[in-house]
Amino acid sequence: MTHSGAKKPLQARKSAALAGRVRVPGDKSISHRSLILGSLAVGETRISGLLEGEDVLNTAKAMQALGARVERLADGVWSVQGVGVGGFAAPEKPLDFGNSGTGVRLAMGAVAGSPIKATFDGDASLRTRPMRRILDPLEQMGARSSNGAEGGRLPLLLEGARDPIPIVYRTPVASAQIKSAVLLAGLAAPGITTVIEKEWSRDHTELMLKHFGAEVSSEPDGAHGRKISLKGQPELKGAKIAVPADPSSAAFPMVAALVVPDSEIILADVMTNPLRTGLIKTLREMGAQIDELNKRGDAGEPMAEFRVRASQLRGVDVPPERAPSMIDEYLVLAVAASFAEGITRMRGLQELRVKESDRLAATVAMLRVNGVKTEIVGDDMIVEGRGHVPGGGLVATHMDHRIAMSALMMGLASDAPVCVDDMSFIGTSFPDFVPMMRRMGAELS
Ligand code: S3P
Repeated sequence: MTHSGAKKPLQARKSAALAGRVRVPGDKSISHRSLILGSLAVGETRISGLLEGEDVLNTAKAMQALGARVERLADGVWSVQGVGVGGFAAPEKPLDFGNSGTGVRLAMGAVAGSPIKATFDGDASLRTRPMRRILDPLEQMGARSSNGAEGGRLPLLLEGARDPIPIVYRTPVASAQIKSAVLLAGLAAPGITTVIEKEWSRDHTELMLKHFGAEVSSEPDGAHGRKISLKGQPELKGAKIAVPADPSSAAFPMVAALVVPDSEIILADVMTNPLRTGLIKTLREMGAQIDELNKRGDAGEPMAEFRVRASQLRGVDVPPERAPSMIDEYLVLAVAASFAEGITRMRGLQELRVKESDRLAATVAMLRVNGVKTEIVGDDMIVEGRGHVPGGGLVATHMDHRIAMSALMMGLASDAPVCVDDMSFIGTSFPDFVPMMRRMGAELS
């Protein structure tokens, strides 16, 4: 989806205590995967709690254009009739993934195992993001790609492999997107496809592949790494999927409740896969009162309810090996660190430079314009917390939903209001964000 309209500014002001019980929308990673794996399976996949944000809707449209039958039955309830592994049809038009790196990269992996040609495209933000990291392994597996002068950027044409080759691939960076693209392409290859990663990234693809009937094994590799192997050419069978609430979306009200005095909120059904909970671990180290209640599991993914109470936070040192388990949460952690007492050092953040925006630069700009001392040293970000934030800044969101939501959470507790220049990209991952935050007492206008 392309955002062609005018920018929509929004302001956040100091709010009274936040209160209430909310369920943030379905997990974005799992939502993309349920549509893609459902499209590669035989029979019906019935999804409930699907995130109906723009990123995921673009993946749904792409799967439809590739020949799957994708239908919305009710709020968050979708049915997918897949085409079987290797069974995609050539789309008539370019596939537009809007703002979503996950959508486009996973779909490239899935298409690489079908003997078709498809053009992949996205919005201005996605067109700046690196795709070589995906094309390298897919080309080793027999796919071909071509685009204009600048290799490795969208738009690009991908031609899937007629006879995909199983490979052993060491990912150059810890990335679930790279791992998933290789595994999805490996579905169509005979024999074993193996991915080795230096740091263990989110494993939703592996868990969901098993749920659909594939044989996948996963074992430790080195101190923090993982080796994942998939047996190719399985018969994937359509399955039922209940999507838990997204911990990366829950992160925004969670941090808001910690920094707005006297707040107490409940976040329901939040997915607690340990490869996604680095933020909660870090906030607890900072002194956050976050209680986990009512733990349970669904389709291989654990979830729980969290009670979050306003807390006096202190600065901490966040180790680099924690980055994959909280890669999307550093912006909002930087907000929490601004309200803390003392220095927070977040280490090993190089991957933040290639997200929806350069999030290292954007976070520093967001904090500085609101009077918080911040610096980047190498790949580390250092935030000097003083227990309160002056605020008063206008934050440039750079087509990045998480910058917009983080800046607004800062404004709910800062001395002067915080404005964002454009809140429209929040709809890519959290369409109900503003009304949900207002229901808890957030002053957003
Ligand atoms: C995602 C993986 C992460 C994350 C993104 C979602 C996924 O990206 O930033 O929002 O669903 O696989 P990388 O794998 O590029 O780190």
